[in-house]
Amino acid sequence: MAKQDTARKVRPCPRLEGEIALPGDKSISHRAAIFNSLAKGKAEVSNFAPGRDCLATVNCLKALGVEISRKGSGNLLISGTGGDGLTEASDVLDAWNSATTMRLLSGLLSSQPFLSIVTGDASLRSRPMGRLIEPLRSMGAEIYGRGKDSFAPLVIKGGKLRGIEFLLPLPTAQIKSAILLAGLFAQGKTVLHQPVPSRDHSERLLKRMGAQLESNGNSISLSPLTSPLSPVNLCVPGDISSAAYFLVAGAIHPDARIIVRNCGTNPTRTGIIDALLAMGAKLRIEKERWEADEPLADIVVESSELRGIELGGDIIPRLIDEIPILAVAGSVAKGKTVIRGAAELRVKESDRIASVSRELSKMGVDIEELPDGMVIHGGRLLMGTDVDSHSDHRLAMSLAIAGLIAEGETTINHAGIAQVSYPTFWQDLFSLQAEVLSRSSERSEEAAKEQRSSLIDFSN
Ligand code: S3P
Repeated sequence: MAKQDTARKVRPCPRLEGEIALPGDKSISHRAAIFNSLAKGKAEVSNFAPGRDCLATVNCLKALGVEISRKGSGNLLISGTGGDGLTEASDVLDAWNSATTMRLLSGLLSSQPFLSIVTGDASLRSRPMGRLIEPLRSMGAEIYGRGKDSFAPLVIKGGKLRGIEFLLPLPTAQIKSAILLAGLFAQGKTVLHQPVPSRDHSERLLKRMGAQLESNGNSISLSPLTSPLSPVNLCVPGDISSAAYFLVAGAIHPDARIIVRNCGTNPTRTGIIDALLAMGAKLRIEKERWEADEPLADIVVESSELRGIELGGDIIPRLIDEIPILAVAGSVAKGKTVIRGAAELRVKESDRIASVSRELSKMGVDIEELPDGMVIHGGRLLMGTDVDSHSDHRLAMSLAIAGLIAEGETTINHAGIAQVSYPTFWQDLFSLQAEVLSRSSERSEEAAKEQRSSLIDFSN
C-alpha cells in the first residue's frame, strides 16, 4: 500500500487518450455493505470501492460480528445478520479518514443494545459531530462526543429509540442516512425534511431492500422495520467523484480524448457534468443503463475551450466533492469562475477553500478565498512547482491534473492519500499516456518506457 507521505511528480504530456475503468462508487459501497449486513441472507457486491474509506466500513462491520469475505478482486460476500445479530465490538471501532463510516455507523449503533466507541484519524477527529449527535439524541440515543459533544471519539450506549420529524439544517447525506439507519429500529415513523436534496443512495437502496420508505420532493418518511431487509446483489456503478478528475483532464488538456466507463449518473451526483457542460466542455453521455435502481453510463470527453461560470445554490450538494477539481477547470477557463454557498468545504478532509486556494496559487492561479467559496480569475498559464495535498485525497488528485497542463514539473507531496478513495488513480492516469504510446508503431519499447516515466515519476 502506498504511503501517505509518498510524493508524485507529474509533467505535461503531448496527448491524453484512453479509457478508464472506474472504481466502484464510495457512497454506494458504504451503504451496500452496511444495509446488506442488516439483511437476512447472503449478498454479493461486486466492483466494491477499493479505497481505504470503504475498507474502514467493512472492518468495523466485521468487528460488530458480520461475516464478510472477499470473492476475487473487488467482490464482497456479506452474510447479513437479519438486523438483530450485531454484537458488541471488543475494541474501539476505527473509521480512519472516513466520515461516512463514522456517521452512518453511529446512527445504526445508537439503536443496538450494546456499547460502542468510534474514533478516526486526526482529520476525522477534527470534523463536526454535533450535527450527528443532536438529532440522534432527540430520538433518545445516548451518544457523547469529545469537546462538549462536538467531535470524535464518540461513545454510544445503544438502546431503544423513537422516530422523529426533523428538518436537516444542511443538505447532508451522511446525517440523513445516520437518522434513517436509526429510524429502521426506532418506534414510530421517522420523517425528514431537507433544505435541498442531498445524494439519495440510501433511500434508493433501502427501498430496493424492502424498507417502507417514501420520498416526496424534499421530504422522506420511513417506517421502522417489521421484517428484516432483503439482501441485494449488485455491481456498484463507477464513482462519478473519481471520474471527475478525468472529465476535467480531458476538457483542459489541449489534445485529449478520454472515455470513462460505467460511471454512476445518479442526478443527485451529476453537478460536475452540468457545470462542465455550462463551461463549454465537449462531453457526451452514452449507453445509459441501470443497476440496482442507480443509473450509469459511459462518458466521453474531449479537449475543450472552457469559460468561467458562477456556481451556487442547489447545484452545490450535487458537486460538493468535485469542487477541488472544478477549481482546476476554473483556473484554465477563460474569465471568472465564482463558487458560493459551499461553506461545507471548510469541514471536509481538509479546509478545502483554504487548501485549494493555497496550493493553486503556488502554481500561479489567481484565486481568492470567500467565506463560503472562491473566485478564480482563469486563463493564466499554470506553473509546475512543489505543492501539498494537505493529506486530502481529493486535493492530491486535483493537483495531479493541474500538473498535466502546467509548465515544467509539479511535485505533489503527500500524494499517497489518494488511496482513501482511488488506490489506482496514479496508474490509471499513467495509462492514458501509455495507451497513446502503444498505438505508435514508430516508438521502440525503450522510448515508450522513457516517455511513460516522463508523465509520472513512480520512483519515490
Ligand atoms: C457522502 C456525503 C457527503 C460527501 C461525502 C460522502 C455520503 O458528505 O461530501 O464525501 O456518502 O453520504 P456530507 O453528508 O457531509 O455532505
